[in-house]
Amino acid sequence: MPKPIYVLNGPNLNLLGSREPHIYGTTTLDDVRALCEARAAALGYSVVFRQSNHEGELIDWIQEAREAASALILNPAGYGHTSIAILDALKALSIPIVECHLSNPAAREAFRHKTYVSLAATGVVAGFGAKSYELALEAAAGLLGAADASA
Ligand code: DQA
Repeated sequence: MPKPIYVLNGPNLNLLGSREPHIYGTTTLDDVRALCEARAAALGYSVVFRQSNHEGELIDWIQEAREAASALILNPAGYGHTSIAILDALKALSIPIVECHLSNPAAREAFRHKTYVSLAATGVVAGFGAKSYELALEAAAGLLGAADASA
């Protein structure tokens, strides 16, 4: 069994389903977790799925992923736009990193157009609601499969 894919979620995503539903939809974070577990299983992976409102806790989990994960999917939420510390933590990883957003930040307020996470991400999936997470898992599994094939 390969190492799990870590799916980490930043601040306010615990309120998914009731938070600005006109932007983020009515799917809850538990629904997203279930979608991720099912999609990952179909791709041959397990997931470690977590959410925190605290920057330091997210950084601890990113550091943990260096050894424990085969790939990292990160929805940094608001911290993506502000956190150099999260960028620095990501730069210490050598596994695939997929940045994931429910909405399309590039189509929203100017302050959302840049994320520090993008500087370290292998790729970005944004704008497809909960489906963004499934697409991110497919991208991660594809990258891992390509790495296996060339090993
Ligand atoms: C988000 C987009 C961010 O700009 C915002 O701060 C979030 C959620 C998304 O998933 O669309 O909290 O990451």
